[in-house]
Order: sequence, then structure tokens, then C-alpha cells
Amino acid sequence: MTEKDFLPNPYTNLPAKGKVTWKAPSNIALVKYWGKKANQIPANPSISFTLDACATTTSVSYTKKEDISQLSFDLFFEGKPKEDFKPKILTFFERIEAYLPFLKAYHFKIETSNSFPHSSGIASSASGMAALALCLVEIERTINRDITDTFFKKKASFLARLGSGSACRSIEGDLIQWGEYAGISESSNLYGINYPFEVNAIFKNFHDSILLVHKGQKQVSSSLGHDLMHDHPYAERRFTQAHENLDKLKKVFESGNLDDFIKIVESEALTLHAMMMTSMPYFVLMKPDTLEIINKIWAFREATKVPICFTLDAGANVHVLYPESVKEKAIQFIQDELVVHCENGHYICDKIGQGAMSK
Ligand code: DP6
Repeated sequence: MTEKDFLPNPYTNLPAKGKVTWKAPSNIALVKYWGKKANQIPANPSISFTLDACATTTSVSYTKKEDISQLSFDLFFEGKPKEDFKPKILTFFERIEAYLPFLKAYHFKIETSNSFPHSSGIASSASGMAALALCLVEIERTINRDITDTFFKKKASFLARLGSGSACRSIEGDLIQWGEYAGISESSNLYGINYPFEVNAIFKNFHDSILLVHKGQKQVSSSLGHDLMHDHPYAERRFTQAHENLDKLKKVFESGNLDDFIKIVESEALTLHAMMMTSMPYFVLMKPDTLEIINKIWAFREATKVPICFTLDAGANVHVLYPESVKEKAIQFIQDELVVHCENGHYICDKIGQGAMSK
């Protein structure tokens, strides 16, 4: 499919008003998206587990208006007007307007809230943009009832990507791949797809305990970080490595070999941060406690042989990944040894999920 396939035919009948609500989960990348081209095209393919507990719920109320020359919306976050989110939403609306030509015909009231505490340091852009994109395609579906379920999800992923790249992996569960990759013929730079090959049962109920090491605002936004991959001395090799890691993961997903899974996933996390440390300007998002946690995970794994590992996002928080079979041991270890490194002892127990839901 190309961008053009997401341009709708002219609408014949616009309803006067209505309201839609969607809940979309966050996701955690195993192979990281880091670096992009124009129009939110990723520089390399990525793959993620869709999460379950960490989610954003968004309602969009729409009322037809007279003046169709401008976009118009109000934004409420956890019940209160949130002016500082508006520029990002406005940019998003402007980017997607061609694909949803009804946008200027309505005034929108967007009400959004997260399941995780605000300022937890968990990025809500993936779940937030996914939930908003789903609401908007839902409105389009009330105008054009011919939209199939498959197309609905593809278009939501396509639009969510234009809001935030990783958001395109937050529409469906449970293992989502995004970005052109020779190993998957149906892969696309435009939207995420369900990983199409065999996946061992061990990966069907994986856990992700998110250790909140640092809840403050990051010093460097993801957008700036992506930008720094232009003219980065190791960028091309890194992009190739992402393809290689997807090749390797194919066997791992099939076999359920956790030793190999751990090697790929931890290497991806550290490579992401290595890219940040070797860009110009360079920056470090890990905190001393991030490293303490990593070292403790390695020591625990070595001593107990419990297959527990970590991954990182573009921040100091640590995602601790482990299979269902070692859940009790992993949680005990987190409580005994890792919680001391979390800000106010906070962590969130999440697991692999099945994707967004209409409410
Ligand atoms: C480190 O999706 O937040 O989490 O497209 O600029 O909104 P934008 O970036 P964003 O980048 C996420 C990067 C990452 C890795 C990943 O999720 O693949």
C-alpha cells in the first residue's frame, strides 16, 4: 500500500455530532526505532511487544461547525484543560488532514487520560497518539461504513505514525513489526503489522516490570535524538544491525531460546543508548540507578539462571522482561534488590497485551 491508499473518497454525508472513545496501550520495542527520514519514515525496522496495563484512554466529541477554514479543538488531560499539549496535536492534525478531510468541518473536544501516573517518566506519546488516531478513524467509519476492520486498523496505525513513530505499533497486539524489512514481504514503513511468523508460546505471556528510575522530564526529546542520527558516524552500521537483529529474532521467536533473546534485546537497548552517547551533541539518559539495576540483573541471572533481562527506552527507566514461568522469582528479586533504585520505590507491573479497544 502507498500513502495514496489512505486518501478517502469525498464524503457524502457528515453527521452533526457524536462521540467516540478508544483505549490504546503503550508498547516496548525489542529492536529499536532510532533515526527517521522525512514524513515519519523510520530509518530502520523495529519490533515491539504491545503492553497491557500502561494505556491511554481518549474520547473525542465532535460537533459540526460553520467556519470550515480552520482546525479547532479543545484538549483536556485528566479532566483539566491542557494548553501545552495543543501544539503537538495541532501539528498532528495538520499532518493528517489530507487523509481525514472532515477534520476542518468539526470542532473537537478531546479528553484524554493515562492509566499510569502523570510524570512517571513513561512516554505517553505512543499510547496517546494511537488512541487519538483510533478515535479519528472511528469518526471516519461513522461517515463511511464501508471501511473494513483490516483497513480500519491499518489506517489508525498509519495516522498514529504521523503523530509519533512508535505509536503505529500501539494499535494491535501482541508482537508488532514496523518498517520495511526484507525478511517480511508485507512489512511497511507506513504502518505496523502483526508479526507474521511462528511465535513460541513462551513469548505469548511475557512480563514487563517498568522500574521508574527517574520521573522527571528527559533532557533530550526523542525527536531531537532521532535527528541526531543524521550525520551520525555509526548510523548506517546501526541501521543494518537492526535488520540483522530481526533476522536473528525470527529463529528465537520460533524456538523460544531465551539466552539468544536476552542477547539481542539487551544489545539493542545498549546500542540505542550508545547512539545517544556518540552523537554530536552527545548525551546520556541513563542514571546511576539505571546502571545499578543493569548490573544487579546480570549478577542475579548469572547466579540463579533465571532468564530475566532488561531493555531501555529513550530515558533512565528500566523495563525488566521475563517469562510467566519465573514470575514469582522475578517479582521477589525486583522487590528485594531493584526497588531501592526506583524513585519513591515506584514500579509498574505490565505484561504483553492484545492491542487497543473501543470503549
Ligand atoms: C527509543 O516514537 O517517541 O522508544 O517518532 O519522534 O515521536 P517520534 O519518536 P518516538 O521514538 C521512540 C524511540 C524509542 C524506540 C522505539 O520505541 O522503537
